[in-house]
Amino acid sequence: MQIVVAGQGYVGLPLAVRAAEVGHHVVGYDVDPHRVQQLAAGQSYVRDVDSSRLRVVLDTGVYSATADAAALAGFDIAVITVPTPLRDGVPDLTYIESCARTLGEHLRPGTTVVLESTSYPGTTEELLLPILEEVSGLKGGVDFLAGFSPERIGNKRWSFDGTPKLVSGIDAKSLDAIKGFYDGIFQTTVPVSGTKVAELAKLIENIFRFVNISMVNEMAMLAASLGVNIWEAIDAAATKPFGFTRFTPGPGVGGHCLPVDPLFLSWKVQQELGVPFRFVELAADVNRYMPDYVVRRLVEALDKRGMPVSGSRILLLGLTYKYNATDLRNSPSARVAELLVTLGAQVRGADPNIPEGEDTELNVPRVDASSEEITASDAVVLLMDHPRFDLPVIQKNAAYVLDCRNRLSGPNVEIL
Ligand SMILES: NC(=O)c1ccc[n+]([C@@H]2O[C@H](COP(=O)([O-])OP(=O)(O)OC[C@H]3O[C@@H](n4cnc5c(N)ncnc54)[C@H](O)[C@@H]3O)[C@@H](O)[C@H]2O)c1
Repeated sequence: MQIVVAGQGYVGLPLAVRAAEVGHHVVGYDVDPHRVQQLAAGQSYVRDVDSSRLRVVLDTGVYSATADAAALAGFDIAVITVPTPLRDGVPDLTYIESCARTLGEHLRPGTTVVLESTSYPGTTEELLLPILEEVSGLKGGVDFLAGFSPERIGNKRWSFDGTPKLVSGIDAKSLDAIKGFYDGIFQTTVPVSGTKVAELAKLIENIFRFVNISMVNEMAMLAASLGVNIWEAIDAAATKPFGFTRFTPGPGVGGHCLPVDPLFLSWKVQQELGVPFRFVELAADVNRYMPDYVVRRLVEALDKRGMPVSGSRILLLGLTYKYNATDLRNSPSARVAELLVTLGAQVRGADPNIPEGEDTELNVPRVDASSEEITASDAVVLLMDHPRFDLPVIQKNAAYVLDCRNRLSGPNVEIL
């Protein structure tokens, strides 16, 4: 089939390449000409897709990247994987809207459009469908098919195509077509009865993590005040072989999904039902406070050593929001750095995973986590314990470490 994947980012590119590998002709459409240029040159910027894989599908002509909407003509199935950010706490669905307008112009009877971007329940049927119908003059469910299938993106254990894929349609025919397409790509597809169920399922997955991480973070703050080791208590609880999922504390929830997606649902609930989604709001509140708490703990520790935070040299280690991740989006490290700078500290940051120049959110000098740098610092904060950090070197050379990941021990170490 002729497939269009609109949006060639972290979600769209792996899908486009996999669809090409299983035998479809795929157009990877993106409005960012720089990204398109890179892809056309066989350079992948997405960790899940090796450049070598990209070059094979480019060379065999089954995949092409373009910013030219004219190339969308003649598609059988189009998948939308464009961003869905929050702006001042309000879902910004303009990317979906504009993409729907572009696709609507190329919609023909018999074609299918699937939304994969994360959003609140109702987005497919109340936002996407009317735009497609208005622009194309065709009727959803009669002339063309549509549905929603959330992206889950695998991890080390669960590969892209080994992770079960939820599929839904605006009607039975749409579900059949969408399930058929994804059955050729994923080992397991899981049909659900409608698009709102699939949209909500994705949010439940993210809210589950967001609420639980925020819960252990609040517990970490309370346990520290009570003089109990939260990490040992969590490990002890995790020996229960059923009914418990292990989450661990940290300096805050970051990334482009967990701190954002739950607020789509709380916004929708407030708009439509006029009530707050209390769990999400509480979790967001705790999460927003975590970087302040880290700074408070550090200030107290320096104080105990007779050192004012102002003028102290502080080294932040691990700036990404997640273990071994490679991006800084919504990372709590930026807020920790900002607070410390405001208090007059001399802050430096080290992260082997972030190339120089890709740290625009972080306004502090970048350094290597060398033994000299560690020795020269009055305090070190281990925000994220990337595997490339030499933990014994940190432990040996640091005057004081606030360890937010429970990886170090010794008289110079305090855990979060
Ligand atoms: N990254 C993840 O781990 C992940 C996981 C699950 C779900 N999601 C969701 O998937 C969606 C996409 O996320 P992402 O991480 O791939 O984003 P991304 O920013 O990496 O990629 C989105 C791409 O869409 C392009 N784009 C914007 N408007 C467009 C338009 N009108 N037509 C064509 N292309 C357009 C952008 O230029 C960009 O390259 C979001 O809704 C996100 O919440 C992301």
